[in-house]
Amino acid sequence: MNFRTSAAVAVAALLACGAAAAQFKSPDDAIEYRQGALAVMGHHFGQLGAMANGKIPYDAAAAKADAELVATLSRLPWSAFVEGSDKGETSARPEIWSQRDKFNADARKLQDAVARLLEAARTGKPDALKAAFGPTAQACKSCHDDFRRKH
Ligand code: HEC
Repeated sequence: MNFRTSAAVAVAALLACGAAAAQFKSPDDAIEYRQGALAVMGHHFGQLGAMANGKIPYDAAAAKADAELVATLSRLPWSAFVEGSDKGETSARPEIWSQRDKFNADARKLQDAVARLLEAARTGKPDALKAAFGPTAQACKSCHDDFRRKH
């Protein structure tokens, strides 16, 4: 099992226990957890993007399932940005801790955008998905621009 896979399995196990507000053994654990959640969220968000942009055929049931997963996963990463986890194998920028209110606000904006994306997916209409996808992607980007290190 590679790193990402084991992180994703850890996320799935936590979800199964309903332990969304997890405590972490160490900063490295927190990093692994949030990267796992973000990677899995990114995968399902990418599927929605491919549908929204016509790269893969629209499938109403898949869109709804992906949007539900994105909605759940988008609640998980933020509590794992614990003190001390700005160091290690992470792309998190120190501004997350020095501008925590702004970071938290960006996380809330994402969750609002994702709620609208889920509503759109539930309509079963490709145009609705397309309209809701862009603003959500913008919410990802605006946080990444400020708080994620570029490689
Ligand atoms: C509130 C800020 C914020 C928002 C909103 C946000 N991200 Fe991120 N994202 C981060 C930070 C910070 C990292 C780096 C985490 C680390 O390396 O510890 C990251 C990392 C990632 C990663 C890499 C995970 C890995 O494998 O290491 C992916 C994929 C990702 N984000 C996708 C998304 C997508 C898709 C969205 C929107 C649906 C999104 N993010 C919204 C802050 C955010």
